[in-house]
Amino acid sequence: MPDTRSIVILTGAGISAESGLQTFRAADGLWEGHRVEDVATPEAFVRDPALVHQFYDARRARLREVEPNSAHLALARLDAEWPGELLIVTQNVDDLHERAGARRLLHMHGELASGWCLACDGRFRWDGPMSSKSDCPERSRGTQEGVSTLRRRSGEPSLDTNGLNLCPACNASGMVRPDIVWFGEMPYEMDRIEAALMGCDLFVSIGTSGAVYPAAGFVQTAKYRGARTLEINLEPSQGSIFFDERRYGLASELVQKWVEELLL
Ligand code: OAD
Repeated sequence: MPDTRSIVILTGAGISAESGLQTFRAADGLWEGHRVEDVATPEAFVRDPALVHQFYDARRARLREVEPNSAHLALARLDAEWPGELLIVTQNVDDLHERAGARRLLHMHGELASGWCLACDGRFRWDGPMSSKSDCPERSRGTQEGVSTLRRRSGEPSLDTNGLNLCPACNASGMVRPDIVWFGEMPYEMDRIEAALMGCDLFVSIGTSGAVYPAAGFVQTAKYRGARTLEINLEPSQGSIFFDERRYGLASELVQKWVEELLL
């Protein structure tokens, strides 16, 4: 594409839908059967940590059952082959972009496979459950046989004999929460995102409804600074009028086609 050097790509749940992960805004207004304020707010975590852990433990376990689709793979190819600047900003907490091979990537809403200790402020990779409520035979076997203690000594995330998570950095018990940006919290790396938006000459939004700020406002920032803007989604997003070009259909087909055009 002529005159394009610097690209910012925003992705949302729609890019992972064809991998088998549910999007957020279902017709019934519920998020996998829960009201959002019951599972995705700091207040919910204070009120009922077991419910919040149970919800995210199930979603973390689900990651092991899904694979990146051709849209993730196409963006990873673009990341590897694009000679100019590129930043993929994902709102998704799954790990499908990195599993496809993307490197110039940031997770503005955090990551399912990361834990954040509220006692020591440490963050670390966390692949298993964070609570005792999850049905996890491996964990209960490990607890009975003392494996969790061994794991803890080797610095890996684990649960104690009471089913509480143990911080691998400071050993605090039950203080690790999902490293996910909940409603009312500030998304990660906003300075870096703003700088990239100000300097890009192409902004592309893929698979997002444009319902949640600040991500929903990125298109206006980029456009105001003179970037061309492209939306790829199943249907017009809430901010579709701000896009110079709109392509509607399945991300698995449209993203691959767009990347091929760009790399010609
Ligand atoms: P949404 O569920 O709001 O929107 C997903 C969008 O993807 C919709 O516009 C769908 O039409 C579209 N879509 C679905 N399947 C698609 C496909 N196969 N190909 C292309 N598009 C498809 O999800 P997000 O916009 O990502 O925040 O939601 C934004 C944020 O709201 C999330 O990051 C999450 C949530 O609350 C936090 O967790 C903080």
